[in-house]
Amino acid sequence: PGSYTTLTGERPTGPLHLGHLFGTIRERVRLQDLGVRTMVVLADYQVITDRDAIGHVRQHVYDAALDNVAAGIDPEKSMIFTHSAVPALNQLMLPFLSLVTEAELHRNPTVKAELAASGRALSGLLLTYPVHQAADILFCKATVVPVGKDQLPHIELSRVIARRFRDRYGAVFEEPQALLTSAPAVPGLDGRKMSKSFGNAITLSMTPDETVAVVRRAPTDSDRYISYDPAARPGVSALLTIAGLCTGRDPGAIAADIGVGGAGSLKDCVAESVNSFLAEHRRRRADVATDPDYVRSVVRRGNERANEIAEQTLSEVREAMGT
Ligand code: ADP
Ligand code: NA
Repeated sequence: PGSYTTLTGERPTGPLHLGHLFGTIRERVRLQDLGVRTMVVLADYQVITDRDAIGHVRQHVYDAALDNVAAGIDPEKSMIFTHSAVPALNQLMLPFLSLVTEAELHRNPTVKAELAASGRALSGLLLTYPVHQAADILFCKATVVPVGKDQLPHIELSRVIARRFRDRYGAVFEEPQALLTSAPAVPGLDGRKMSKSFGNAITLSMTPDETVAVVRRAPTDSDRYISYDPAARPGVSALLTIAGLCTGRDPGAIAADIGVGGAGSLKDCVAESVNSFLAEHRRRRADVATDPDYVRSVVRRGNERANEIAEQTLSEVREAMGT
């Protein structure tokens, strides 16, 4: 593990939620604890791939760093950094853009899906954001990238870019391997994927009471007999999945325990499962939050170290290209 590097991260567009924790943060903490060099990018420039305004990005960067540290990211071992503080990433994008064709960019299924979902005109940044992501992955020579299935085309593009760069100029970049995450699509309270933009999230920063309140508002159905059936009962099944993730139990077994208790008992069970699962995270979060300067210094140091790595890689790129 000592010679492995992993890169993961999130867009600082709002508070992190259980989907982030199960889908990626727990995985990156596990890799860090195995001795893998762990890079966490807070992708602030990617905020504007699908929106005009950058929003309260500074506050979101702060909160995301806080949640990562509370979840176990150790700033002595791992780096938490932002795009905007590492300009060499953007310089890498130029040679990378020359290695891909417009047709390849247009074929990317995630770009197509996000374009359709946004209902906006395709911006140059949205079209090229998989290349931007390749720069994130390749600048630190990441060898393992934990992703959901939908992200596999991005990893493939990073591999293609690493190979084409090698064929044209010389071996500078590693070809990263995708590591499929165990919880790629945590459902939100309405049965759709948990997402900041759907308003269906249980965020890591909610209090226990706020958690009870959002769980109570979740849409269910009138069948008092609780069963796990994602196709026919998306609301009930999403709640069971969340409780299952938080307790490490099978959602069907939780349903069987509740039996004819109805949505009320189900929601009590879910809120309690989430609150006991998050208790430790929330305690650490509150503890770290007593020292905001520390949190800011974590990002500052992460930026400095990421810059050193990026400058080193950029000088290898210049050397290989003869620029
Ligand atoms: P978005 O691109 O929708 O704004 P983020 O960039 O904040 O989302 O998400 C960062 C990463 O967190 C994603 O690539 C994914 O790995 C993980 N993630 C987010 N939501 C979920 C979810 N509901 N289930 C599992 N993983 C998730
Ligand atoms: Na999201």
